[in-house]
Amino acid sequence: MQGIERIVILTGAGISAESGLGTFRDEGGLWAQHRIEDVATPDAFGRNPALVHEFYNARRRQAADAAPNAAHAALARLQADWSGELMLVTQNVDGLHEKAGADVIHMHGQLDSALCAACAYRWPAPLDMSVGEICPSCGAPKARPDIVWFGEMPYHVERILDALQACDLFAAVGTSGQVYPAAGFVEEARIAGARTVELNLRDSDMSYAFEYHITGPASETVPRWVDRVLAGG
Ligand code: OAD
Repeated sequence: MQGIERIVILTGAGISAESGLGTFRDEGGLWAQHRIEDVATPDAFGRNPALVHEFYNARRRQAADAAPNAAHAALARLQADWSGELMLVTQNVDGLHEKAGADVIHMHGQLDSALCAACAYRWPAPLDMSVGEICPSCGAPKARPDIVWFGEMPYHVERILDALQACDLFAAVGTSGQVYPAAGFVEEARIAGARTVELNLRDSDMSYAFEYHITGPASETVPRWVDRVLAGG
């Protein structure tokens, strides 16, 4: 693409849907089956840590069995072949971008990581975490999933905002645009004068803010879009 050097790509649950991982807000999605306030807040973990672990243990097991699809592969190819700068940011907690060979920033944490609530030490999470697990660094029985819950600060936001403020092209793939700060990234990119493109199965809450829209399943739209970007079109 002419005049494009710096790219920022944001992905959401929609990119992993065709790998068999359920999204949050599509029909029958995770938030239709579980209440956010029961499983995805610090209060929930304080009240019923066993239930929260059970929820993330199930997600972790599913993600461990899942394979990346053509959309993850295409973004990894773009990252490898792009001559300019490219930052890939995901809201997803699965490891499918990495499995496809990409270098990705996890702004909402990672299922395969455990976090000590006492000293903030991180270590590889076992497939099943349990209540009272001991931190290998400080010894406190305070292990929790390394997931950003509602009411907590997403990771790496400053670094992402810096990249958005300098980017020429911003793309959002498979995200409903309902959770901030990620939902506001398109506005940051527009202020920077970037071209903006949304790739989604359908319109999202933020569609109005994007200049271009590519509609369809990510496994089909993303590889075609990557080809166009690499061809300079
Ligand atoms: P959502 O479940 O809110 O939205 C999924 C989006 O993917 C929707 O806009 C769908 O239309 C789209 N989609 C579904 N299948 C697709 C496909 N095959 N190809 C392309 N698009 C498809 O998921 P997110 O926007 O990622 O946060 O949710 C954002 C955050 O809310 C998550 O990171 C999570 C959740 O609560 C936390 O848990 C902190």
